[in-house]
Amino acid sequence: MTTIGLDEVDEVVGKYEAKSSALIQILLEIQRKNRWLPKEVLARVGKGLGIPLSQIYQIATFYKAFSLVPKGQHVVTICMGTACHVRGAPRILDRVQESINIGPGDTTSDLKFSLETVNCLGCCALGPVMVVDRDYNGKMTPAKVKDILESYD
Ligand code: FES
Repeated sequence: MTTIGLDEVDEVVGKYEAKSSALIQILLEIQRKNRWLPKEVLARVGKGLGIPLSQIYQIATFYKAFSLVPKGQHVVTICMGTACHVRGAPRILDRVQESINIGPGDTTSDLKFSLETVNCLGCCALGPVMVVDRDYNGKMTPAKVKDILESYD
């Protein structure tokens, strides 16, 4: 399941001159390349930086940007904040769940999609909002869900 090689992890660590102060930047870069942080990768980073694995886990579990489980190629985020909720976000979420057969916090077995919910995306006037990766889809309706999801390879 891991796509990043340990030699590539060493390269990222080397790019930051193995400075322990660069731990977060290093983890962010690996997360970006690999979409999640497997244990063997964290152990390799710890070895390269001379930081205990337990300390790396503390950081990796604290920040929402990091995932310790495999993430899908595309992340679907449904806003469930009040403004979106009253405009029908639960129906959007239902339709997404029906379409890709997973619940919030899960990833499809083919690793194509992960599904997440948030409490407000800061664009309430556009609600209900569904974001796929960085693409914002405002004024969503259940009928639009399928076509939008199918447009992602
Ligand atoms: S409540 Fe959905 S964007 Fe604010």
